[in-house]
Amino acid sequence: MSDLRDDVRDGFRNAFKSEPAGVWSAPGRVNLIGEHTDYNEGFVLPFAIDRRTVVAVGVRDDRRMRVASTYADEVAALSMVELRPGQLGEWSAYPLGVAWALGEFGVDLGAVPGVDIFIDSDVPVGAGLSSSAAVECAVAIALNDVWQLGLDRQTLAQVCQRAENAAVGAPTGIMDQYAALFGRKDSAVFLDCRGMDAEPIPLGFAEAGLAIAVIDTGVQHSTAGGEYAERREACERGARELGVPSLRELRADRLDEARQVLDDVTFRRVRHVVTENQRVLDTVRTLRERGPAAIGPFLDDSHLSLRNDFEVSTPELDLAVETANANGALGARMTGAGFGGSVIALVPNDALSLLRVAIDGAFAEHGLGQPDTFVVTASGGAQRDF
Ligand code: GLA
Repeated sequence: MSDLRDDVRDGFRNAFKSEPAGVWSAPGRVNLIGEHTDYNEGFVLPFAIDRRTVVAVGVRDDRRMRVASTYADEVAALSMVELRPGQLGEWSAYPLGVAWALGEFGVDLGAVPGVDIFIDSDVPVGAGLSSSAAVECAVAIALNDVWQLGLDRQTLAQVCQRAENAAVGAPTGIMDQYAALFGRKDSAVFLDCRGMDAEPIPLGFAEAGLAIAVIDTGVQHSTAGGEYAERREACERGARELGVPSLRELRADRLDEARQVLDDVTFRRVRHVVTENQRVLDTVRTLRERGPAAIGPFLDDSHLSLRNDFEVSTPELDLAVETANANGALGARMTGAGFGGSVIALVPNDALSLLRVAIDGAFAEHGLGQPDTFVVTASGGAQRDF
């Protein structure tokens, strides 16, 4: 981590031939449980991981913004008042989108000084670990500081979500940005997406001799594709046809009625959301009352529901879950939007090496590329590093 911060400072000096005003960072996340519930005003339980995006920012004496990164050789440069969604480049849409979104939230982009931004990250891209939210949140807290905006973290989360939705074109919820901004060491962020209350829930994995292993299948996922939007529409349709403002309001005892009213696909999308919300509450209660070793069955049930009802899993994700569970994991599930990306497995520390070997073996046997398996720990949220 300190290496990455040093690299970012060096990168900044090389790209812009000047000294940055400071260095800020924000983490990626895994979602322990609560998938596709955030945009239904439901519950989520992600945690920030020990992989971060680091940005160095320098203040300019004009009104231009330049962004460079280790993602590409290109340096994006434009006048801040010219920022428009849809006109931004690929990776640079995230940092530039945040500046644009700050404008949408009332910041006068014609009055604040221009900035140079250099970005580096060890959050893998396309693995479902929210590398994009990590970029957005690192840039947002940096601009909040250098422009002395005084915005609180709730507002910054909304700014980053707006950047993601409008500038990048993915109709995502707000979970990833909350995880990146509200993460705490050894805790998950229990978020009620209706009232937007975030509460840290101690995880206690280390004390229990447990770890969360991420198995990155290497199948790139994207929320900007049509499937994510289609799932969201199905949820909204289900809520409308059942006469509730959001699926959060649908009680489990109305599922029989929902089955009569809705077509089969919409019904299964709805059932996933209703049962997943309950699993988040059950997981939080179980963590508090019985400790982390007891939450495995909820992870397994979540995966089955995402596979069978919400239909966002892939053969690679299913294989990783099955192999993990057959080789010592206490529970496993896909994490994030799905359609590729990663699985998380709750694993006793002494079973980790066996699990790794078993996963590699199973993927090889099925003629699939080698997945990347690594342990993540719950870490702190976005911050100024120096
Ligand atoms: C992506 C989105 C989140 C959330 C998850 C699915 O990570 O960015 O808002 O909807 O998918 O739970």
